[in-house]
Amino acid sequence: MSQIKRVRGFQDIYGENSKKYRYVVDTARDIFQRYNFEEIILPVVEDVSLFLRSVGEDTDIVQKEMYTFEDRGGRQVALRPEGTAPTVRAFIEEKMFAQGGYKKLFYEGAMFRYERPQAGRYRQFHQIGAEILGTGSVLADVEMIKMVNDLLDTLGIETTLEINTLGSFEDRKEYIKQLKDYLKGVKDKLCKDCQVRMDRNPLRVLDCKNESCREATAEAPTLLQFLSPERKERFEKLKEYLSQLGIKYKVNPRLVRGLDYYTDTVFEFTTDKIGAQGTVAAGGRYDTLVKQLGGSDTPALGFAAGVERLMLLVDQLPSEKPTVVVIPISQQYEGKGLQTADILRKRGIKTELMLKEGSLKSKMKTAGKLGAKAVVFVSDRYEIKDMETGSQQEATSPEDMLGILGKVIT
Ligand code: HAM
Repeated sequence: MSQIKRVRGFQDIYGENSKKYRYVVDTARDIFQRYNFEEIILPVVEDVSLFLRSVGEDTDIVQKEMYTFEDRGGRQVALRPEGTAPTVRAFIEEKMFAQGGYKKLFYEGAMFRYERPQAGRYRQFHQIGAEILGTGSVLADVEMIKMVNDLLDTLGIETTLEINTLGSFEDRKEYIKQLKDYLKGVKDKLCKDCQVRMDRNPLRVLDCKNESCREATAEAPTLLQFLSPERKERFEKLKEYLSQLGIKYKVNPRLVRGLDYYTDTVFEFTTDKIGAQGTVAAGGRYDTLVKQLGGSDTPALGFAAGVERLMLLVDQLPSEKPTVVVIPISQQYEGKGLQTADILRKRGIKTELMLKEGSLKSKMKTAGKLGAKAVVFVSDRYEIKDMETGSQQEATSPEDMLGILGKVIT
């Protein structure tokens, strides 16, 4: 019988990789919650028109990459290619705006794009993302970028942050006219894709990776010159606050992003360590999208990161070994052993209570194999053994035991 294989562009994530997956997602959740974001669990399938009206009809995602099909009820649906449009749809549909103020949401899950698979690019991939809906404050832009920066730092991933501002759709009108004129003059030097893009989506020509397109557009007018003074001022504030937080960035006037909904701030965190697919996290503001999808006038912004790309960049998983092993030296001290383990766990210390039966010697041998930093022997007192140096110290009260242990395990 012939073997059935997984579908091209789809992956099994198992073994070391599933541990990395969990580590990346759990770390992100921790950080999102620290910034007071609330989780939203979104459907995988949405009405096709949601993405046509948000991501944009002339984008690669909608033109070439969406998994669309007709369901048994004759509805045109799509497997979600991204999470922003579904979040906005839910925000409007569930009347989250009625709760007043602004809303901070995060999500994680599978996204689907029919792209050419390669390292770091899959047809089913996973994103972690966050959105703030209902505030136009530049502080929200700074917080969003800072949060992504914190996440990458915590995962030990080095990246370059590129930022740009796309202004309002109004600012862009005059610019796009001039850009189109410029592009007409260099049309012959543009790649085939860009020759089509230049009429329908001229901004995208600016971030084409093709060398001849880059050369042809080197002298193209930049959007920055067309921004209104308020938008320019906003961008200056953003840069100032990022600098105050010690976040390094580069302004890249060609950064336009591949989705149509962006206004003002856009950003990408990139790396050159994983080949061509170097954007690990990206996002920006989309102040008109909520209204465009039928909601009220609601400024918003967000970001998403590719979990698989982050996994490629995570070198080391946190240790799976316990930090401390607690061994009651005889049956008489088992109750105290349970209490000791409880004290340590309540302080967030990863603790193994020795469950092996038999002689103290065999318990010590097992403890050695677990690879803990310290062993606490429990009797009418505590003996704290540093497993690295072999040295042993004594304590009589739990407080003293914690004090000594604190020094041994850090
Ligand atoms: P995006 O740039 O299309 O933005 O995707 C965000 C991230 O998802 C990328 O930087 C990359 O890490 C990952 N990614 C995208 N496509 C693939 C793929 N085929 N395979 C593996 N990873 C991939 C968005 O999706 C926007 N919704 C971000 C956003 C949120 N903007 C505002 N709010």
